[in-house]
Amino acid sequence: MIKDGIDWEQLYQDKFTPWDVKRPDSHLADIVQNTPIRPCRALELGCGTGTNAIWLAGRGFDVTAMDLSATALAQARAKDGADACAFVLADFFEDPLPGTDFGFVFDLGCLHGFSNPEHRDMLARRIAQCLREGGHWLNISSSLDGQAVCPSRLSAGQITAAVEPYFEIVSLTATHLDNLSVEDKQEMGLAPDLPAPCAFCTLMRKRAPEQE
Ligand SMILES: C[S@@+](CC[C@H](N)C(=O)[O-])C[C@H]1O[C@@H](n2cnc3c(N)ncnc32)[C@H](O)[C@@H]1O
Repeated sequence: MIKDGIDWEQLYQDKFTPWDVKRPDSHLADIVQNTPIRPCRALELGCGTGTNAIWLAGRGFDVTAMDLSATALAQARAKDGADACAFVLADFFEDPLPGTDFGFVFDLGCLHGFSNPEHRDMLARRIAQCLREGGHWLNISSSLDGQAVCPSRLSAGQITAAVEPYFEIVSLTATHLDNLSVEDKQEMGLAPDLPAPCAFCTLMRKRAPEQE
């Protein structure tokens, strides 16, 4: 299993999940509401406790949501609206691809968990294999800029190096991850004034096959 040292299942069991803001991601909502991306077959990679997958299904997307943590998926399946999603316990690197005709892939914090560039390249390649031609991938990754709030961080150059062989970049925007509530920070032993990590929000379109 490729984890680059992070034991995700253990973190969910320990209830130490500082990425789980328990509300739909603001960048995802902005992209779905303000770009031509329309309801289609969608894959959420590394869906965690399922908030964003359920939000997408509520907007008409036909959602498959994958994670390798059984604890996270049990929490996802217990949420209101979960029946509208297909939650899949699988390792995106080692298990068969969940399909090859998705129109949209969403990943918040999966790519940035891989410190090894070969693993990031493999992830981008496999996401491209899941998408139909012209399909989009929205990635939100914590960035190397600003205070080191999140241990997994990527530069814009590391993101583009991984994705550009397979994707055209539609937009790459410097932003912040959505912040945890003060109550959740306190529950996890984090400082109440901990800032939201700097991040990059990257929307990409799968490259068309090269013509002869
Ligand atoms: C930083 S967490 C983000 C979770 C969720 N997107 C959220 O924002 O709440 C990264 C997630 O990716 C999942 N993950 C990491 N590697 C994976 C893999 N190879 N296959 C499937 N899921 C993976 C982890 O279990 C974890 O839930």
